[in-house]
Amino acid sequence: EQTGKSGYDHFMLKEINEQPTALRQGLSGRLDELAGRVTVEELSDVETPGRVEFVACGTSYHAALFGVEALRAADIPAQAFLASEYATGPAPVRDDTLVVGVTQSGETADTLSALREARARGAETLAVTNVVDSSAARECDHVLYIRSGPEIGVAATKTFSSQLVALTLFTATLAERGGEDARELVAALRDLPNHLQHVLDESRAADVVEEYLDSEAYFFIGRGPAFPVALEGALKFKEITYEHAEGFASGELKHGPLALVTANTPVFAVVTGDDERARKTIGNVKEVEARDAPVVAVTDGASDVERYADDVLEIPETHPRTAPVLTNAQLQLVAYHMANRLGRAIDKPRNLAKSVTVE
Ligand code: G6P
Repeated sequence: EQTGKSGYDHFMLKEINEQPTALRQGLSGRLDELAGRVTVEELSDVETPGRVEFVACGTSYHAALFGVEALRAADIPAQAFLASEYATGPAPVRDDTLVVGVTQSGETADTLSALREARARGAETLAVTNVVDSSAARECDHVLYIRSGPEIGVAATKTFSSQLVALTLFTATLAERGGEDARELVAALRDLPNHLQHVLDESRAADVVEEYLDSEAYFFIGRGPAFPVALEGALKFKEITYEHAEGFASGELKHGPLALVTANTPVFAVVTGDDERARKTIGNVKEVEARDAPVVAVTDGASDVERYADDVLEIPETHPRTAPVLTNAQLQLVAYHMANRLGRAIDKPRNLAKSVTVE
């Protein structure tokens, strides 16, 4: 097993570090840099849907939320469902609905049930999966492979990044048909593996966690594309540290969670760009700061969030669609280093399985 880890202490850390390679694989042959277009062969026979509905579980559900955000930004109506909810309470299927199952393994029972339900109701289906010939790949009308390579660690890391990239390619494919110019996005995707390598090489996550080893709970906030990153940051953290962690949409803090915020609850705030969303999240950062909570900003430095933060985890400036891959990598490392410091069973967290094949 030690050989399989290529010198790393855990599969999780190995897989975190494999992400630049995984992304290069996922992008290979799918970008036409000269024309500034994406070229995803597998999607050429997918008809342009009027509406996209995602079904997914766990980390893949967070990728689906990112997909919703990306599609809506491209003016395509979209919604994400937890597969276990959809399976027993499916949404109405219209003629132009495409149901997309996001599933690393392609074997998650809840997701397969949801996809079967959608098909039975007449929906066209697409599987976004890592595993060639998996049940989802075989049963859906179309397949988009994320090409991450095998993932051993129970906590999904590189497959999440690959899912974000695959869903960006999916969105760009549909948006280009509607005449959208993808030139900037294509350039950002081309640079993404190198940017990610830079984040992994320079991350201060191992130092930052030392400050917060004895905290009561850990909160993660973000808005827009940073919201799924906050959810995923918290999920990864609770899965492998066994500490209480929650992710919130920044704007929801004041509707309840703020009651939990104290000097003993560090808040990881994901803030990229300097738009209205960033400014509003900074407003939320000030709210938690006023309750003495330590703040760790995960940011590209475009806004002035650092002024209100006790610690900063930096990413390079990039396109809004690619920033979540980089901010998420910082939070993967936060979870990993915290779990490592606490001596947890990082690759095999208690009570969890890599692929859950029962409903
Ligand atoms: C399990 C794993 C999670 C994963 C989820 C969905 O719960 O522990 O890491 O996100 O299943 O898996 P899938 O293979 O469908 O992406």
